[in-house]
Amino acid sequence: MAKIIYPGSFDPVTKGHLDIIDRAHRVFDFVTVSVLENPRKKATFTIEERVEMLKKITANYDNVEVDYFRGLLVDYAAQKGVKIVIKGLRAVSDFELEFQMALVNQKLNPSIETLFMMTSTKYAHLSSSIVKEVASFGGDISELVPPEVHDQIKTKFAFQ
Ligand code: PNS
Repeated sequence: MAKIIYPGSFDPVTKGHLDIIDRAHRVFDFVTVSVLENPRKKATFTIEERVEMLKKITANYDNVEVDYFRGLLVDYAAQKGVKIVIKGLRAVSDFELEFQMALVNQKLNPSIETLFMMTSTKYAHLSSSIVKEVASFGGDISELVPPEVHDQIKTKFAFQ
């Protein structure tokens, strides 16, 4: 059974993330979407909020679970018995950091493979930072985030 982990910050989740989840769940048997809990990086949304948003948007997928992790991704993958990590690539600009992370992960644990899925062109411009930028100025984010989490994201920025 081909199980994969789709890791990320998801701060917040976007339609681009959902596109990767949706396409991954069609080609792999089981997808674990996992949020990095990074105590050294101040996130806009708490770990609970990010997990909750991901659970809302994946509620209809019976081969997708949502989880979170701390520490090294390869250690987490090994603990779960998963050998494939999937990452989304939007543009050449993503490549350098992703390539570096994939090589570090390969050094740390050669039995875990990183696979890349190219974003759909309609989401190539999209990132969590862009969503936060638009939302913080009161802009319309309905084209950028899944409808199930739209209000929650808007509310976060309403009083800032
Ligand atoms: O959504 P992001 O912020 O691009 O996700 C990055 C993430 C969480 C996948 C990456 O930072 C990660 O795997 N962090 C865990 C720490 C780790 O394993 N580091 C070694 C690879 S450089």
